[in-house]
Amino acid sequence: SHVDAATAVEPVDISRGWLAALEEQANAALPPHIREYVGTTAGSAERAARDLAEWDAVSFAPRTLLGERSLDLGTTVLGRSVSSPVLIAPMAQQVGAHPAGERATAAAAAAVGTVIGVSTNTAVPFGEIQGTGAEWWFQVYPLADRAATERIVERAAAAGAAAIILTVDTTALLVSAPGIEPTEWPEGPERARLVNLTAAELAGLEGRPTVAATLDDIAWLTRASGGLPVIVKGVLRGDDATRAVDAGASAVIVSTHGGRRSGASISSLSALPSVVGAVGDAAEVYVDSGVRSGGHALVALTLGAQAVFVGRPVMWGLALSGAAGVERVLRGLNAELTLALSQSGATSLAGLSTELTISLGSR
Ligand code: FNR
Repeated sequence: SHVDAATAVEPVDISRGWLAALEEQANAALPPHIREYVGTTAGSAERAARDLAEWDAVSFAPRTLLGERSLDLGTTVLGRSVSSPVLIAPMAQQVGAHPAGERATAAAAAAVGTVIGVSTNTAVPFGEIQGTGAEWWFQVYPLADRAATERIVERAAAAGAAAIILTVDTTALLVSAPGIEPTEWPEGPERARLVNLTAAELAGLEGRPTVAATLDDIAWLTRASGGLPVIVKGVLRGDDATRAVDAGASAVIVSTHGGRRSGASISSLSALPSVVGAVGDAAEVYVDSGVRSGGHALVALTLGAQAVFVGRPVMWGLALSGAAGVERVLRGLNAELTLALSQSGATSLAGLSTELTISLGSR
């Protein structure tokens, strides 16, 4: 079971700089076009660096005199148990980073006991992802062809997806559609077919294969998936989060798409408090974009997020050593989160937002 797997392993090395070293190794190992695809952001390098640095600029007022505490990372997302609030973000083109692609990422998710988001742009059959035993949530880019969108969502639900993630901050051009310049998909021999769409559905995508999401898509996807919870990904405003929840979303993900969408948007971290404030207890709030340590995850949880998603670090682990590499990244982040919880004076994951006090950006 997940719990046995999580407790049976050796302590993981989280000495300073371990993830940066892993990033460097992955970048050295990846072919240039994949490295570029994974690393790219929409804005300047300075802005990307600033967004990342924001997470490190948060300070805790640590609590003391608490005696021995046993800090468990176990929590729930949408009512399902996970071993930790660190989840895997949906990312396209994982077979470009490692031949096993999402088979490996999902196997690591299952071993660690966390959730993996699976992109519309996966080249791995849904059945093989389900076969790893992982809890997986299917990420939807609405196709211009609504019927084809319904079919792929039905297929994901039938295969065992436990939730739908509707990405609202970007449209993506899918691979394999003739005559289309893919933007979510790098050039190169690794470019793979989207096996969860039929050949006829792929052939039917012309010029503009995906379209911008609307509020009505939430109810539509709830129906198409046979009643799965719908999570709206890419929200950066309290008013949008409220609209999504009022329209039936079970959760929202505060996200800048890892800085890939706009070079001039506010950061996920700065947007998080207003989204949490707007949503209240009506839905769960998750966050991603720039989470690079367990300490960053603790910041997000203290600000009221129920969980965080991690993108590129998972890709680095995958590129280096498949499932073992992804597992190493997740275990490292979890070990850091345990340490950060202990150092901040938390007594449990559940009470963080009322227990701890932090200052954003200045001491
Ligand atoms: C992404 N992301 C993404 N999101 C999505 O909804 N569908 C997708 O297909 C993809 N594809 C994708 C590919 C690659 C290579 C990256 C790096 C990202 C965005 C992803 O889900 C997540 O929002 C960010 O990656 C989070 O930021 P960090 O953790 O990478 O900083």
